[in-house]
Amino acid sequence: MSRKKISIIGGGQIGGVLASLIASRQLGDAVLFDIIDDMPQGKALDIAEASRIDKFDVSLKGANDYKDIAGSDIVIVTAGLPRKPGMSRDDLLTTNAKIMQSVAENVKKHAPNSIAIIISNPLDAMVTLFKKITGFPTNRVLGQAGILDSSRFSTFIAWELGVSVKDVNAMVLGGHGDTMVPIVRYANVNGIPAMELLERKYNDKAKAAEVMKAMVDRTKMAGGEIVKLLKTGSAFYSPASATTSMVESIVYDEKRVLPVCAYLNGEFGVKGYYVGVPAVLGANGVEKIIEFALDKDEKALLDNSVKAVTNLVTDMERLGF
Ligand code: APR
Repeated sequence: MSRKKISIIGGGQIGGVLASLIASRQLGDAVLFDIIDDMPQGKALDIAEASRIDKFDVSLKGANDYKDIAGSDIVIVTAGLPRKPGMSRDDLLTTNAKIMQSVAENVKKHAPNSIAIIISNPLDAMVTLFKKITGFPTNRVLGQAGILDSSRFSTFIAWELGVSVKDVNAMVLGGHGDTMVPIVRYANVNGIPAMELLERKYNDKAKAAEVMKAMVDRTKMAGGEIVKLLKTGSAFYSPASATTSMVESIVYDEKRVLPVCAYLNGEFGVKGYYVGVPAVLGANGVEKIIEFALDKDEKALLDNSVKAVTNLVTDMERLGF
């Protein structure tokens, strides 16, 4: 089996870590593309020079010419500005939509058969725009957000309960903005409901609910918490890790059920929009949306989040994209 070709558009903070993870896990030959001269070549060379130490046998190439992404199986888009302190993801709309426009046109031209994973923010709008410009089928255009948001929620639960994060499963649905929806009812530690464990810890239902609410709120604002600490950029290690798990599921046709930003055609009552939901990821990209029943409150929260996504997409269209 020949190795997959994986191109990363945008060789900044996320792009660099992603290239390193893809190489060290031998997921494929990586091309790191950026508009900044020499920078992606420098990062590719730096990562390649770690290959003897980490023992990986893939090729790494830095590029400033889109011709180098030709024949890519997977294209990951990180191009775009990150947030500055005090900004919401939505504040990036105009700047990043312009960048996404040129990226999408070039991916369509040079890697027309690729599966595209979008990371640039505001995520739900950027995925929508990429899909519109490329005209790729919906199974081949998806966005990264839910795995990271879910990992953040799981991390906070693990810290609170004093258990290994490996045993925590918690899911976040909806748009990748402040209205995202952590699903408390299904958050669990190896199958045991996290709420039950919290109630036992505090022996007080109201206190347990208050602690859970604080974790839900922290999850929703977790990206902003990091922007505030970093001051010059946004999270990059964890988004790169989240994307790597998506790439892995596609490259090895694992059919993992992962929360991703996927196109909905009636699922969860949403038609014609990209929203974060659990989906099966395999060799064909998004192979299936996994639907499940939401209770009344969860449905209301998801509807609210979908509304934020549709408003954002409408704003983008009004701006002429
Ligand atoms: N084509 C290709 N690359 C571009 C373009 C373009 N038209 N415009 C900008 N870039 C590159 C920049 O040169 C930079 O190297 O995109 C890279 C972005 O990297 P960073 O600024 O380090 O941002 P990063 O932290 O990686 O985040 C990228 O992902 O999570 C989102 O909000 C985040 O939108 C941001 C994106």
